[in-house]
Amino acid sequence: MAFVERWFQTIRTRTVAFVAIVMAVMVTAVSCSGGGNVADNAGVAPELVADYIHTVLAADRTAYTKHVVNRVATLEGKAKEDGVLPIEATEGWQQTDGIPLPAQMFRLGSEIANESGYFTYNLISPWYINDNHAPKGEFEERAVQEMIDTGEPVKEYQEIGDQTYFSAMYPDKAVAEACVSCHNTHPVHLERYPDKQFVMDEVMGGIVINIPLQGA
Ligand code: HEC
Repeated sequence: MAFVERWFQTIRTRTVAFVAIVMAVMVTAVSCSGGGNVADNAGVAPELVADYIHTVLAADRTAYTKHVVNRVATLEGKAKEDGVLPIEATEGWQQTDGIPLPAQMFRLGSEIANESGYFTYNLISPWYINDNHAPKGEFEERAVQEMIDTGEPVKEYQEIGDQTYFSAMYPDKAVAEACVSCHNTHPVHLERYPDKQFVMDEVMGGIVINIPLQGA
């Protein structure tokens, strides 16, 4: 009997020690991850986080435009002389077995990323073709005008309900002739904004990034 009791005692002691180790690991993991909020707990300013995110978004968008869309044989119904890929980049890509336009590719990515809960991002413009890209809420409506007037990003904290966000809007400029010609001749654009003709380097819209802050 004494042996069995000692045996139980050993198991109990080991179990308690094991549970203690598991709890210590969990506490360390939680404190190191900062409870899931990168922007304020890890000590990186939200402004810098927004700049990092924007750098990646803009780089991916440019790389897709330059190295994929620019190389297609057909761009929205028009043959491209320098096109080497036997495919069409078109707004109706799902119906025609083509590939998405850069703005559509951007939105497809944002729909996936926005589900992560870390932050959200969207493309907006006062001259939107797609209704999803209309400026929404007080910040976007005001900031879009300021960004177009100055050509500079607009960044600020905003409260929505009881949540504080750091929001940043970065200009999306007409960097290629194709941006201007495609938008200026798009049937929706012509119908909605008959007096608006984009020119090179003009701000055509903006990329908005919203980062929710914890305990701010
Ligand atoms: C071949 C046509 C085409 C080209 C080239 C093109 N766009 Fe677009 N763009 C569109 C269409 C169509 C949409 C709406 C897409 C959607 O349904 O999300 C759009 C959306 C946008 C939006 C969001 C507002 C809106 O209209 O819905 C911005 C901003 C924008 N484009 C800027 C640019 C810039 C800058 C370039 C050049 C780097 C460019 N576009 C090149 C057709 C084009």
